[in-house]
Amino acid sequence: MQDLLIHNADGVMTLTLNRPEKKNSFTQAMYGAAADALLQATDDPGVHVVVIQGHETIFSAGNDITDFLNRDTSNPNPPVARFLRGLTVFPKPLIASVCGPAVGIGTTLLFHCDLVYAGDNAAFSMPFVNLGLCAEAGSSLLAPRMMGYHRAAEALLMGDPFMAEAALEVGLVNRIVPPSEANHLAQSQARKLAAKPLPALMATKRLMKQGQTDEVLAQINEESKSFGQLMQSPHAKEAFTAFLEKRKPDFAKL
Ligand code: COA
Repeated sequence: MQDLLIHNADGVMTLTLNRPEKKNSFTQAMYGAAADALLQATDDPGVHVVVIQGHETIFSAGNDITDFLNRDTSNPNPPVARFLRGLTVFPKPLIASVCGPAVGIGTTLLFHCDLVYAGDNAAFSMPFVNLGLCAEAGSSLLAPRMMGYHRAAEALLMGDPFMAEAALEVGLVNRIVPPSEANHLAQSQARKLAAKPLPALMATKRLMKQGQTDEVLAQINEESKSFGQLMQSPHAKEAFTAFLEKRKPDFAKL
């Protein structure tokens, strides 16, 4: 699929978000393709590591809002749910390379990665509240746990972007490099990991995540219930209409 490029080399599967004209925002088809790729990477003994990357100027603008509004709401296991489960249970090392804006799922997927490398232009944001919605992808559990409650509350309640330096300080990012080097660094780290004994990598990851996986899956479930209810709210309707009309939402009138 053109919007999500999948490349296998030297034990590394690389997923490249490749929809620059829409700022690499995720469509349902991209979630589905990414979920399938993670399953394939899990089963394929030749894949030791997965890298998720974008471009030098954009990681992802989050959910494609137009595509999201047109999704099939009758599907009990939609592509986004399969992708979130895939991220949560993925048993091999998962590396992200982030440059430019990482909005919504562009940031929340990083809580599931083992290593994150950022360009110095990376800008992380989780503006769910500004869209009348709530945290997703387990971020309501993982952000406070990883960043500390107050910093997570600032990121999730205010929804303002925070830059690479701040992400490094809170531990969301391992290293910051010039944008032109981020994907190279992620690839070279991935190759180093791919050369290590896979059973030892997998056992170590499993032990580090032990006890957390079921909790994260349960939290994702809780979040999607709230998310679904909030989608029906006049606030979310106003926020989405405003996005489509390219204007600021006006919640004061509600
Ligand atoms: N869903 C659908 N389309 C999106 C999108 C999204 N999440 N993000 C960007 N686009 C589209 C824009 O509508 C625009 O389309 P057009 O050229 O047909 O008008 C195109 O991508 C370029 O976006 P633009 O806003 O002009 O780029 P920018 O460089 O000025 O800003 C962002 C980049 C990522 C900061 C900005 O696009 C943004 O904030 N997007 C919305 C993010 C968001 O709210 N996501 C949902 C999170 S849950």
